[in-house]
Amino acid sequence: MGSRIVATGRALPRTLVSNKDLERYMDTSDEWISTRTGIRQRYTMRQGESLADITAEASKIALNRAGMKAADLDAIVVGTVSSEYGFPSFACQVQTRLGIDTIPAFDVAAACSGFVYALSVADSMMRAGDFKRVLTIGTDALSTMVDWNDRRTAVLFGDGAGAAVMVHEPGPRGVLTSVLRSAGQHWNLLAVRSTGIRSTIDSEVRRDPADSIQMKGPELFKIAVKSIADVTKQAAEKAGIDIAAVDLVVPHQANMRILSAVAERLGISQEKVFTNIDRYGNTSAASVPIALDEALEQDRIHDNDLVMLNACGGGLTWGANLLRW
Ligand SMILES: CC(C)(COP(=O)(O)OP(=O)(O)OC[C@H]1O[C@@H](n2cnc3c(N)ncnc32)[C@H](O)[C@@H]1OP(=O)(O)O)[C@@H](O)C(=O)NCCC(=O)NCCS
Repeated sequence: MGSRIVATGRALPRTLVSNKDLERYMDTSDEWISTRTGIRQRYTMRQGESLADITAEASKIALNRAGMKAADLDAIVVGTVSSEYGFPSFACQVQTRLGIDTIPAFDVAAACSGFVYALSVADSMMRAGDFKRVLTIGTDALSTMVDWNDRRTAVLFGDGAGAAVMVHEPGPRGVLTSVLRSAGQHWNLLAVRSTGIRSTIDSEVRRDPADSIQMKGPELFKIAVKSIADVTKQAAEKAGIDIAAVDLVVPHQANMRILSAVAERLGISQEKVFTNIDRYGNTSAASVPIALDEALEQDRIHDNDLVMLNACGGGLTWGANLLRW
């Protein structure tokens, strides 16, 4: 076996925005948002807030729970598309906030699939033998990239960070399989032309609509359901495990209706699918590690449980990781 998650942590921006609050900004309603997406509220960044600070906070919680110091880490792998800089990487900004030097720190850009991708990369690094303790992070602030006049996208996204401390460990527990997929031909179903300028909900200067998130929601919906279901089956098959044996699915939280449709396609009960989209919205790469952290906190995961992580996002990218907890 290659690697195992020994602790997780999460952190969020301070501002909670309810669907009712959004009714003041655009022609929408709590009823539309909650019935079409399952979202009731989300946390969003404000001017002056730093996603790197929030990510460092999530990382410190995970490290503390793992009984480790940042200096014990061998690498930092960050799934994100929200770096404030073209370069340096977001991972380097987190590294310096954790007060550590010289260990490799780099980003994996796979949009909402960022954590699933980063976890697979970290696991491969540990299987290869050179790394023993890797901090794997999913963090994003897509609310800063929306056009706040576009009700079709602005209501969906929230911001946040989730972190997992992974250790190299022989034995039956840990990451069993990962399956990653991309389809660049679908790039324009969900894209943002430039990062850089942040347009938070409270900022006076707005992002140009052409530089904001562009999404073809209904097309994306259909592809997301099929691709997440397929890759989840493939991850189970690769491990020689029947999907029915999976104890808990911890999916990317994009839309409650997507989660239900995927469960139906896989023939698993909704009770086996962890959801917290009502409270966070779609936090992109942060959603899987935030959900995992909450699932652990709520005692939904026990030793030796089979836990499936899965996601689909811009790229398009999609993937799944099967873990024996
Ligand atoms: C975005 C999404 C919620 C839209 O839901 P939908 O049921 O497909 O809705 P449509 O886009 O077809 O719009 C239906 C109507 O609601 C309206 N509408 C869209 N957003 C609205 C909002 N926030 N409030 C009120 N009405 C809204 C549309 O304008 C449209 O009205 P019309 O029929 O008069 O033109 C859904 O397509 C989705 O979740 N797609 C996947 C998105 C996703 O997962 N993205 C991230 C991937 S990681």
